[in-house]
Amino acid sequence: MSTNGTERAKRRIKFNILRYKPGFIDPPRYDAFDVEVDERMTVLDVLEHIKATQDPTLLYRHSCHHASCGTCAMKANGHEDLSCVINVFDLKSDTVTVDPLGSLPLIADLVVDMEAFADRFAPLGMTLVRESEFAKECVPPPGVEAYMRYEDCVECGVCLSACPVANSTPSFIGPAGLAAAYRALVTGDRPAGEVFAHVDSAEGLWRCHGAMECSAACPSNVDPGGKIMALRRELVKYKVKRIFGMHEE
Ligand code: FES
Repeated sequence: MSTNGTERAKRRIKFNILRYKPGFIDPPRYDAFDVEVDERMTVLDVLEHIKATQDPTLLYRHSCHHASCGTCAMKANGHEDLSCVINVFDLKSDTVTVDPLGSLPLIADLVVDMEAFADRFAPLGMTLVRESEFAKECVPPPGVEAYMRYEDCVECGVCLSACPVANSTPSFIGPAGLAAAYRALVTGDRPAGEVFAHVDSAEGLWRCHGAMECSAACPSNVDPGGKIMALRRELVKYKVKRIFGMHEE
């Protein structure tokens, strides 16, 4: 029953969930769960329901439940998104297959190791605290700007999983890392020479095929594909200026 007294629509849906427990289940397999879902439930709601009522060993990661922490990303019927915002009815299917993100090492069930994703930010110093995490009236302590990270990006790993190049080339810096490099360039957080030295390689800017799956999948409208194209344009300009000896740095 909803808060205004109207009955919520309900459907029984079969969830096939990837299971993997190192040392217990080898290789990964799918377990099926039959769940009555109401029209308001998200994939994360369903996982919590299954854990509470059917299988307490199911493992997944989440925190905020409202698309801000980026920890609950996974695939539902093959598409990456934050599981706390995927409405199950919107999937328009009586069977929902839930997988962990791709291109990252699997730890257990739907939990992947995000260290390899975070490593893609590290070379340009993308770190811990978002600018928006400070109240307007607060005076940030000296030096805190060193800990600012790419505004809007919730570092969920969705773009990396959706990227066809990252799926086949694990060494690719990837959409989020390249978008963060563009941010470091335009904000002046890092000298242009340092940014371009990091991204001007076969594993960097030039590996992207422009599929734009990253931008389509990004739940925070970062548009990493657009940032990659913009960074390429800036790199070409930088190289032309170097040829003609027009560089300031
Ligand atoms: S639980 Fe935080 S983004 Fe989904």
